[in-house]
Amino acid sequence: MADDKATRLQQSWIHNAAGWTAAVREGRIESRRLATDAAILAAIRRHRPARLLDLGCGEGWLCRAAAAEGIDALGIDAAAPLIEAARAAGGARYEVMGYEQLDPARLGRHDLLVCNFALLDDRLPALLRALHALRAPSGRLLIQTLHPGEAEGEGWREERFEAFGSGFPAAMPWYFRSRAAWLTALHEADWGNIVTHEPIHPHTGAPASLLLDAGPTETA
Ligand SMILES: C[S@@+](CC[C@H](N)C(=O)[O-])C[C@H]1O[C@@H](n2cnc3c(N)ncnc32)[C@H](O)[C@@H]1O
Repeated sequence: MADDKATRLQQSWIHNAAGWTAAVREGRIESRRLATDAAILAAIRRHRPARLLDLGCGEGWLCRAAAAEGIDALGIDAAAPLIEAARAAGGARYEVMGYEQLDPARLGRHDLLVCNFALLDDRLPALLRALHALRAPSGRLLIQTLHPGEAEGEGWREERFEAFGSGFPAAMPWYFRSRAAWLTALHEADWGNIVTHEPIHPHTGAPASLLLDAGPTETA
């Protein structure tokens, strides 16, 4: 059952690729425009990485922004139409690759691994462990995710993108995790050196996201 949802999740990004690309590039997502884009870019700058891997890069905005600051940026995503859109815009390197097929020999090692609103299914524990093969010895992992608020537990939910305008024919199943569930998953996968940030939405004063900056446990 869960695998069906993970498959539907990935397929939704193929069906919604054009709508998503337009929504991102036209700045239709207010929380991104006002808070979360700047927050992830500031977190990247704090680490001054030479090499960055953007997992679930979508249409590539974050790779383009990193490359414009002189960072060697590589983006991967399972949705071929999004990688096509990223390549068409240029600026960085992109590969069609799912998290389940990560190929360290092909991807190399990176100072910073970034997942910006891109860890959406229930296979997080296996992915987090696999990411160690892609980091430089002191490499870190940045995860920005929907703020879970005070909700507890974890489980599948569904998003219909109604706030993002047209171009979203497919609903997206996604796997909710509480703050405690995120932290436990990171600790259990040996990403135990964690600093958390909560970028604030300037209009509501509420946290716009949860930003987890994690290093390997041995550096804790
Ligand atoms: C909300 S979008 C975020 C895109 C981009 N990181 C950004 O900030 O605009 C989520 C992305 O994760 C990708 N994704 C989801 N599950 C994936 C998987 N198992 N392997 C690779 N990419 C995946 C989707 O294709 C989609 O591009």
